[in-house]
Amino acid sequence: MDLKALHKITYGLYIVSSRDQERLNGQIANTVFQVTATPPRVAVCLNRENLTHSFVNKSGIFSISVLEQETPFKFIGIFGFHSGRDIDKFKGIKYKIGKTGVPIVLEHTLAYMEFKVEGKMETGTHTLFIGTLRGAEIIKEGTPLTYDYYHRVLKGKSPKNAPTYIEERRAK
Ligand SMILES: Cc1cc2nc3c(=O)[nH]c(=O)nc-3n(C[C@H](O)[C@H](O)[C@H](O)COP(=O)(O)O)c2cc1C
Repeated sequence: MDLKALHKITYGLYIVSSRDQERLNGQIANTVFQVTATPPRVAVCLNRENLTHSFVNKSGIFSISVLEQETPFKFIGIFGFHSGRDIDKFKGIKYKIGKTGVPIVLEHTLAYMEFKVEGKMETGTHTLFIGTLRGAEIIKEGTPLTYDYYHRVLKGKSPKNAPTYIEERRAK
């Protein structure tokens, strides 16, 4: 079985944010996709070990920021390779609180959406959360960052908690 075939599936790159009372947090996720139009619903797949997972699970709200292609690697690193358990990711970055109370990252963001969790499905290491749209806005025009661009141009890697992570020895 050639696991590299899975790399041919295409994705965008997003920041999924949520909160636990006064604590705000967010993480990079590629596994974000719309599942229905009426009502507008999306699915996000979060690792059960991530702090963002625990915040979404508890609060029942999350936001998605669509990242621009020009997003610096360093910015992706803060949200994708560090846990909110160790650092305050919202310190010093531009964000706002949406109408559901969820934090929304505005930096390097083309558009955002906020959701209420409608259902979830456990998939083993990850939980697939289904959210119904409660608010959305376009911030600026631009090209969205894709997972392909992240790998090919930015030479970025997938960390262990990403659903698309493939161990080096298994990928060979
Ligand atoms: C390019 C990229 C894509 C990622 N995609 C996902 C994803 O779809 N789901 C997920 O749970 N983690 C994904 N991650 C990993 C999380 O962003 C990472 O584990 C993060 O440190 C979790 O932070 P937290 O503990 O503050 O929530 C991705 C990371 C990167 C860099």
